[in-house]
Amino acid sequence: MNDINIIVEEKDGSHTTLLAPTDMSLSLMEFLKGNEYDILATCGGMALCATCHVSVLSGFEKLNPISDDEYAILDTLPGITDTSRLSCQLKLSDEMDGMVVKILGEG
Ligand code: FES
Repeated sequence: MNDINIIVEEKDGSHTTLLAPTDMSLSLMEFLKGNEYDILATCGGMALCATCHVSVLSGFEKLNPISDDEYAILDTLPGITDTSRLSCQLKLSDEMDGMVVKILGEG
């Protein structure tokens, strides 16, 4: 399987389903940016800027574990949720099929 569905919960609560390739080594941050979502990604995906912060509304348990570096940044955010992740630290993979994310970082 080379394509998965990533569902974005928009600010108005509606859901947008995007078809995402898993064979291009893209991170979720790069994929969302490529789909015109406002994510600054100032650090370029180094887990430093937190502008790629997302809340994973469904599928959180299937993701790769949070590294110490990622956790250290998330822990500084006022808007952290129980299922917060830095989307630059999530490589698109088959396990993410059907995941629902809400973008919380600043654009
Ligand atoms: S892009 Fe900077 S922390 Fe993810």
